[in-house]
Amino acid sequence: MKLNRRDVLQLGLWGSSAFFLPVIPQKPSLAAPFSPQIPRFKKPLTIPPVLSPKYADETTDYYEIELRKTRVKILPDTTTEVWSYNGSFPGPTIRQRGGNPLTGEGRQSVVRFINNLGQDEDDCDIDAVIHLHGMASLPQYDGFATDFIPPGYFKDYIYPNDRAATIWYHDHTIDKTSRNVYMGLAGMYIVEDEFERNLPLPKGEYDVPLILRDAFFEQKNDDAKLIFDNRNERSTYGDVAIVNGVPWPQMNVANRKYRFRLLNTSASRSFQLALSQKLERLTLGETMVVIGSDGGLLEEPVELTTPYQTLELGMAERYEIIIDFSKYKVGDSVYLKNIGFTGSIDTDTRIHTLMRFDVVREEQDDSLIPDELRPFERLSEAKAKGQTRTFRFERSFNQWLINGRGWEENRVDADPGFGDIEIWEFVNPGSGWFHPIHVHLIDMQMLERNGRPVRPYERGWKDVFHLGEFEKVRVIGEFGPRNPEFKKRFIHGKFMMHCHNLVHEDHSMMTVFEVGEEGDEPKSAPAKIVAEMKSFEETYPTPPNVYDLEAIEAFDEELYGKGR
Ligand code: C2O
Ligand code: CU
Ligand code: CU
Repeated sequence: MKLNRRDVLQLGLWGSSAFFLPVIPQKPSLAAPFSPQIPRFKKPLTIPPVLSPKYADETTDYYEIELRKTRVKILPDTTTEVWSYNGSFPGPTIRQRGGNPLTGEGRQSVVRFINNLGQDEDDCDIDAVIHLHGMASLPQYDGFATDFIPPGYFKDYIYPNDRAATIWYHDHTIDKTSRNVYMGLAGMYIVEDEFERNLPLPKGEYDVPLILRDAFFEQKNDDAKLIFDNRNERSTYGDVAIVNGVPWPQMNVANRKYRFRLLNTSASRSFQLALSQKLERLTLGETMVVIGSDGGLLEEPVELTTPYQTLELGMAERYEIIIDFSKYKVGDSVYLKNIGFTGSIDTDTRIHTLMRFDVVREEQDDSLIPDELRPFERLSEAKAKGQTRTFRFERSFNQWLINGRGWEENRVDADPGFGDIEIWEFVNPGSGWFHPIHVHLIDMQMLERNGRPVRPYERGWKDVFHLGEFEKVRVIGEFGPRNPEFKKRFIHGKFMMHCHNLVHEDHSMMTVFEVGEEGDEPKSAPAKIVAEMKSFEETYPTPPNVYDLEAIEAFDEELYGKGR
């Protein structure tokens, strides 16, 4: 879809709080004010490895991921300790076939996470919690913030892969999520289905994950240390742009279309992305086409053209874009810029550019961007059948609170029935920060922001909602999985909802909602000691079936014992 001037205005760019926030510089409390200077656009972009299953049966692929400290080369002539999944920074990518495994359409996954992180600098155990953000997991496999895997323990997570989308796994440990994710515990997980594979979109080496984040380093001799500083529990920022683990990378591309899967794993930094042929300013008329959001493909592509249309990628959000390099000549370069000051009063370091694409060769391109991507049902106000709930996200008494309350794991703040279609209103009364609000379990649709239409690229399925200062965002969703096959299952139980500024989440802008009644408890499948770990073959003589409630309950009972 092409945008006219009115659409541009509706994008809300001029009215966006991002441009009106006061700039109140804060003194960084860090030892050194800046990371060491490093050369830009010299190191080639790397792609995180795709993880192969260790074992497979007729319906399920079994993967193994070890959490461990490792040293990686990020800044030149130094190494950096990161907390990794399988020694990779970011973690390995899992690519999985979506759909019902019983019909042979898709595969389910069992991912065994083994915590060998040991202790932190204060000699405290580094507990881990694994959340697969964007998957409709059962409560016991969703990574509830206190469902720990202590060091020396492991836990097997069962994932249904019920619909195609770019999602990600990351740490979710109560009070420690921001530190743990900052130290490296994040990785991409891609679910693809038949429908999507049959579209003529760029595939294979032209389908590229771009995992964006910021980081701050302190260098002593050949040690470049990742410094995590949450500035009195407010936010954490860095001055180095990192894409797929590489600072300010460059990528050689052919003069053709590429699909990029963007994910922002920063703890506190949002990006306003745009392309430019110049490093120091925006060039006019550069375009990117958004084809997907958090919950998979959009209905139709949304073209964004500089200078007025940019792509806002808040923390934990995913957008998939097509960049067509055929309008450039071999020898040209295009920068991925971050033009925005996306509003938090304590962002005192700027990241203006993330990476550079160098067009180095000519190539045929038979890929296309179809006018229609994935049709889906639009949820309108009229379809709501359940309550409308309002959640205020604000700072008071030096704490981040939802409706005036902090985290209490046994308190349930919303109780939609299974299958209810509810409208949730998120309100930010304003205090200097925006909040990307994340609802576990379900994909939702945005109805409006401040009574006006949301940006065109926000009209797809989403699980993170950008809530700017003084804004009210209304979203609608059905409390159950989107896949109709999987929907027959009664998913009930407790899930989390929180701000995805991970520092806010940790202190303590997070709450619990419960879908239906008498669901499995989030902690009913506890981690087990590594000494008792058996091979997948021995552990799963019969495959677990997440699509069958009784089967999975019997299975859990056998694995974890009665009295759950
Ligand atoms: Cu991406 Cu509850 O988290
Ligand atoms: Cu999530
Ligand atoms: Cu927040």
